[in-house]
Amino acid sequence: MSKREILVVGSINVDLLLFQERLPLRGETLVAEGMREEFGGKGANQAVQAARLDQSVIFLGAVGKDERGRASRKNLEANRIECHLQEVDTPTGLGVVSILDNGEVHATILRGANGDVTPEWIRDNANLFERAGVVILQNEIPAEANEEAIRLARAAGARIIYNAAPARAVSPSLAQQCDYFIVNEEEAMFFLGERLTTRADIEDAIPRLHEYCARLVVTLGAEGSLLATESGTHYIAAVPVRALDTTGAGDAYVGAFASSLLDGVSEVQAASIAAKVAGLATTGVGAQTSMPTSEDITNDSVRAEAQDS
Ligand code: RIB
Repeated sequence: MSKREILVVGSINVDLLLFQERLPLRGETLVAEGMREEFGGKGANQAVQAARLDQSVIFLGAVGKDERGRASRKNLEANRIECHLQEVDTPTGLGVVSILDNGEVHATILRGANGDVTPEWIRDNANLFERAGVVILQNEIPAEANEEAIRLARAAGARIIYNAAPARAVSPSLAQQCDYFIVNEEEAMFFLGERLTTRADIEDAIPRLHEYCARLVVTLGAEGSLLATESGTHYIAAVPVRALDTTGAGDAYVGAFASSLLDGVSEVQAASIAAKVAGLATTGVGAQTSMPTSEDITNDSVRAEAQDS
């Protein structure tokens, strides 16, 4: 029987969302219009999305011995996620997200406990990789921990989805060991060292991005996404919604893509489902708040409501 669990190895943050008209100028102090504290972290967000789509999800990472760490663990467990969290002396990871009146989102993270995820901790949990059909990774834990996770995932025969976000140097030979390399347009520019301004630019750059992986996804925000595999490049349109906050939309995409692959649908179908899920995930404030369930994505009224609201 094929393995049915998703293992997310990655980060947990608590996000402080600041609602502000614009970014401050140099030397300026700007007064925010409001603030919310929400659960976040790319790894945790991806795990929550996959769990909301009825997958059995395991999470491997680290939190601090603090209130935010305890609350984050409870949140994952409330989402039916099996947690393997190392408790470290460093405070739990933090995200500071500015949501501007024009809809732009600017995020800064403090790695905190996520920076303490070690290759040893990953190795201590090697048994989890044996249970996984898909392993998901991002770039908010140290590179050496990701390297160890890739080694164990390959040895266990799991498919690997590497969401190389935020951008940092990644060796192409490591990325090539993964089944899917998922980046947004900013990250694509980082990896290529090129300025890409239009979708056509990105499509033209796909052959160069294949240096990292045979199968790529480039998410383009409200413009949709590109899936590039051995069978060619496919454009997947975004689902039109009235977005309130795009924080975590990319994570919703990754969680849904992993979930659909595990369900055995084609890559193009998986990317289409992921696009719909990511769209719905922007209709509420906070990364995880509006991540849809499988019922939501098959329910036309929810979709229509999202479009009309
Ligand atoms: O992708 C969105 C996430 O990035 C936020 O939740 C923030 O914590 C950062 O990790």
